[in-house]
Amino acid sequence: MNKIALLISASLFAVSASAQTQGCVANVQKNGLTVGTSPDYPPFESLDNNNQIVGLDVDMVNAIGKKMGVKVNIVGQSFDGLIPALISKKIDLIAAGMTVTPERKKAVNFTLPYDNSENVIMARKENLSYATAAKLSGKSVGAQIGSTQEELARGIKGASVKSFNLYTDAAVALQTRQIDSLVIDRVVGEQFAKTYPDLRITGMLSKNEKALAVRKDCGDLVNRINAAVIQLRKSGELQAISKKWLSK
Ligand code: ARG
Repeated sequence: MNKIALLISASLFAVSASAQTQGCVANVQKNGLTVGTSPDYPPFESLDNNNQIVGLDVDMVNAIGKKMGVKVNIVGQSFDGLIPALISKKIDLIAAGMTVTPERKKAVNFTLPYDNSENVIMARKENLSYATAAKLSGKSVGAQIGSTQEELARGIKGASVKSFNLYTDAAVALQTRQIDSLVIDRVVGEQFAKTYPDLRITGMLSKNEKALAVRKDCGDLVNRINAAVIQLRKSGELQAISKKWLSK
């Protein structure tokens, strides 16, 4: 690049940088980063024995906060209320294993994706034949209220969908034979299979990609978080956090 081109691109960068300064970063610097999650989704977020919210998302957001030099405050609430809480400014960021969808993109601003996984079917070990959507016809299928998996379950012909406020309750319902199956993230299903020895992943439905979300008008914050994510990837910290939780 010659000097002129360099100058032009530098000033364009300055313009776009200032156009992006919507005050969300400044606000977070002043008041800290309030992060909303639904701690029923291990290993992304769950409650430990002391009722503390722990998980991959928690470690990642804390690492991002550290890079940004801001205080992080994590609050637990119901999953289906996270986007409304974000829009009404009760929280600044959603870190909840949230799947990126075109529908949600209309309401929120997603960061770079941090996890790729699959939506799978889970059943009890005597029902390993529940391996495809067609096999769930006439069966009950559990999923979390407001989740992409609930939407997937609703699309299964002939299945009756049972919605749960918490994924942990949906897993208990499957183990205790109140429902026949679950649609769930593979990684989360693997965790529940460790807690409930009768549960198995029986089939794969679709792929998913997870990201953090901020308000639509917080492009400055999304850029700042993405920069931190890129730094954390370069240093290997993000991989270490994933490894710690995904190998549990
Ligand atoms: N990945 C699914 C979705 O975005 C479910 C996420 C549920 N997260 C949670 N923390 N309970 O709809």
